[in-house]
Amino acid sequence: MSKILVTGGTGYIGSHTVVELHNAGFEVIAIDNFDNSYPDVIENIEKISSKKLNFENVDIRDKAALKAFIAKHNDITAVIHFAANKAVGESVQFPLKYYENNVGGTVNLLQALQENNINNIVFSSSCTVYGEATPPVDENAPIPVAQSPYGNTKQICEEVLMDQTKASDLKVVALRYFNPVGAHDSALIGELPIGVPNNLVPFITQTAIGKREVLTVFGDDYPTPDGTCIRDYIHVVDIALAHVAAINYLLNKKYTEAFSVFNLGTGNGNSVLEVIQSFEKETGVKLNYKIGPRRTGDVVQVYASCEKALNVLGWKTERDLANCMTTAWAWEKALAAKNSSSN
Ligand code: NAD
Ligand code: WQD
Repeated sequence: MSKILVTGGTGYIGSHTVVELHNAGFEVIAIDNFDNSYPDVIENIEKISSKKLNFENVDIRDKAALKAFIAKHNDITAVIHFAANKAVGESVQFPLKYYENNVGGTVNLLQALQENNINNIVFSSSCTVYGEATPPVDENAPIPVAQSPYGNTKQICEEVLMDQTKASDLKVVALRYFNPVGAHDSALIGELPIGVPNNLVPFITQTAIGKREVLTVFGDDYPTPDGTCIRDYIHVVDIALAHVAAINYLLNKKYTEAFSVFNLGTGNGNSVLEVIQSFEKETGVKLNYKIGPRRTGDVVQVYASCEKALNVLGWKTERDLANCMTTAWAWEKALAAKNSSSN
């Protein structure tokens, strides 16, 4: 049985991926420093998987601790590297935090892997690397100068990984996620934004549950059919399943290049107003929202071409926007029930 290391394993996408790796029969070892997640995610993963999760609290910025951890587990066959900070606005305010954690942490990880001859890695990249591109965006679209330090860390990490494939036996799959949303069907794991959410779907569910008064739609004067921005919203469980496909691709040596990159999206774009309408239709809850000014830095529309992931990884999405809304809402209600019982 292959042993897979998941960094950032208690985070939003990491936790769903650990579950799907368990479902696929992999042995998993996860690390996290709980910078943006909580220890109780571990028991919820275990409940869903009916399996104990091998977990250690390791900070990837701590090179010595990371090296000692990897040396102790040198039977790891592949790594999925989620651990990073991901708030675009915060990265503008605190760029060094992002370069240290996202880039420095990745370099630490690669050094520890090289020392232990561990040569397979799946990296969490982002559609943010494409900036303002003409959709559907495929993997050959140009990569413009990054619009934020966060976006830049993803571009730099891809380059670091590519350079390292040229200098060693390392094999890399970089997955560029579009807009991950939704939660596990069990409502035991989901997205846990700390403070005021930046992203649309958690802001919708928090407004619907009464945690926020009103959702502001950032601009309705864009050149799109209803004037609001268009994105490719993809269910987090579909994203998790793509990681299992990427691991199989690496372990079965299906690659023709040492560095491969794939978009993870649905191939469909939805406007902000369409997402709100879908939420209201699927949940029966009326959402309090208003139209506000544009948010600086938003691209007008972006959605993926997902042909490459289908043709090469044999992966495509199985869940639609309606399912994203119902699972995100079930998760928000489960969080509210948990908080009211602990008060
Ligand atoms: P998340 O914040 O929920 O998960 C990241 C996890 O990494 C957290 O549990 C956090 O505590 C942990 N972590 C952060 N720094 C760490 C460190 N130094 N050592 C150990 N653990 C650390 O975020 P997510 O949404 O699950 O994102 C996972 C990855 O996917 C990130 O690399 C992110 O940049 C990327 N990504 C996310 C999105 C998105 O919209 N969610 C889109 C594209 C790419
Ligand atoms: C979606 C749409 C907003 C909140 C971000 C990162 C990107 C990637 C995915 C990590 C936009 C609108 C939002 C609100 C709104 N993450 N919106 N009111 O900006 O597409 O992408 O997450 O790699 O790098 O930038 O996602 O969820 O913030 O916004 O109207 O309160 O919803 O303007 O059109 P975004 P988002």
